[in-house]
Amino acid sequence: MKAKTYRGPVGWLLVALCMLFVVGCEEAGVHVAQPESLPGQALQAPAEQPLSPISGKQLITVGFSQLGTESDWRKANTRSIREAAAEAGIKLMYENAEQSQEKQFEAIRLFIEQKVDVIAVSPVVESGWEPILREAKAAGIPVILSDRAVGVSDPSLYVTTIGSDFYEEGVKAGKYLLDKLHHLPGPVSIVELRGTDGSSPTIERGKGFRDVIAKREDLRIIKAESADFTVEQGKETMRAFLQELGGDIRVLFAHNDDMAIGAIEAIEEYGLRPGKDVVIISVDGTRKAFELMVEGKINCIVECNPLLGPILMQAVREMMEGRTLPKRIVPQESVFTEGVAHKEVANRQY
Ligand code: AHR
Repeated sequence: MKAKTYRGPVGWLLVALCMLFVVGCEEAGVHVAQPESLPGQALQAPAEQPLSPISGKQLITVGFSQLGTESDWRKANTRSIREAAAEAGIKLMYENAEQSQEKQFEAIRLFIEQKVDVIAVSPVVESGWEPILREAKAAGIPVILSDRAVGVSDPSLYVTTIGSDFYEEGVKAGKYLLDKLHHLPGPVSIVELRGTDGSSPTIERGKGFRDVIAKREDLRIIKAESADFTVEQGKETMRAFLQELGGDIRVLFAHNDDMAIGAIEAIEEYGLRPGKDVVIISVDGTRKAFELMVEGKINCIVECNPLLGPILMQAVREMMEGRTLPKRIVPQESVFTEGVAHKEVANRQY
């Protein structure tokens, strides 16, 4: 499988600009849904905005409910959003929900109370958002979903979702596996370390992966459990898999790098060789994962890009100017295999 080059920060900025407005985005490899009308409320900055000390223009305030700090991906995502806000002269109110949807609701209520211009939220799980999003709508505050999606019956409750196509990530992981095993007769036993139950990446990556590997009946997922996107739970869950199934496990599909890193420790403690006795496919593309790939312990990394800050701030600005945003904004992402690991370690910012 051919890996594509990682896009640096300047490239990302260009992609972000392209994503939002320019015809021909598909040429740049960015997949953008057709623009739809924004919900009719609060698209113009309220008249009584304080002036920005930086630009002398109206200061935009964004309330951002981040879902937690579970992974290196998440930390990089928070950093990117904070830095991009500072760079854009946008005031950011940041709340960390520590994996609690209830805390996200509290944060959103606080943002409504504080009369922020825009609410950005990374939803910890997909369901249960309709009532709180209605509260934001009633207050006239537009909501942007960052990273993860929600399942609501009324799409006018949010303006746009900026983040990866998780289904496609699962498809990429599945395709890599089919390719890797094409000469190997089955049965092949696969274990899956899933992310947070009910979260959109867990649901979609799982579906995408299953849809692809279904092409071979002799590939079987023999165990699939949530390890909540963390190193610790990844290690603990993989240890339990190994105790139960031992050397039968041929493949690990980990829904993120942190769980893969934990699992690799468990595999080594058990006396097997990660990347050789057990094929390891991970998602994200953090520096630590690429270091393990250099050592031959991870075979494939499906990229999930956390650097959403510039795109989010650009979207906020455009929205405040009354422009229409596409309902879905998806960054370009790659698949990396062993040959490119050295180069990627040098490239990684997170
Ligand atoms: O929602 C994105 C996922 O959440 C990333 O893959 C994972 O690392 C993170 O915690």
